[in-house]
Amino acid sequence: MNTNQLVFASANPNKVKEVESKLGGAFPLLGLLDIGCHDELPETTGTIPGNAQQKASYVFNTYNVNCFADDTGLEIDALLGEPGVNSADYALANRNAEANMLLVLKKMQGIEQRTARFRTSICLFWNGEKHLFEGVVEGQILLAPAGSGGFGYDPIFQPLGFERTFAQMDMSEKNAISHRAKAIALLRDFILNRS
Ligand code: IMP
Repeated sequence: MNTNQLVFASANPNKVKEVESKLGGAFPLLGLLDIGCHDELPETTGTIPGNAQQKASYVFNTYNVNCFADDTGLEIDALLGEPGVNSADYALANRNAEANMLLVLKKMQGIEQRTARFRTSICLFWNGEKHLFEGVVEGQILLAPAGSGGFGYDPIFQPLGFERTFAQMDMSEKNAISHRAKAIALLRDFILNRS
């Protein structure tokens, strides 16, 4: 195994670049395409940490490289954790973010208990050992969308301690408190300490 290599299990070069910069630029990252992987990674465990582990295990077992995979979802308490692992395509409408949000708002109609959280799980295989990192941000689901920034469920999610949704924040403000940023910071601290 080439221990200087670290592969992020994503086929999206923009996502790879973004995560690379969040790792402080200290660690060059390779994406799936860089290692010749064009496979659709399995995501069938039914949980966010489970899917992160499943994807990272697939890359590790197939390519024997240091690698990590992430998975993110919105967990709404009144919906028993939905959309959770199905966040990307909750409305079964070709990953349409608008349709996903409208479905959430419809299911939440008349419900007062609106607590929710975003969860990002990252599973890392580092020198053959598996490590799990999690970033969580607590908040609540609003009655209607607000704001035009961000993506996905951002317009209906108001993080705890703020009077604005993620979609009403600029990117740097969201990145300072987001689930994804927290999980990546844990990953960064781990690999900087070990390398
Ligand atoms: P992924 O695992 O990063 O692809 O995220 C899965 C789905 O969760 C996305 O398609 C979005 O619907 C939702 N999601 C993930 N991160 C965010 C976020 O930061 N804001 C809003 N929605 C998000």
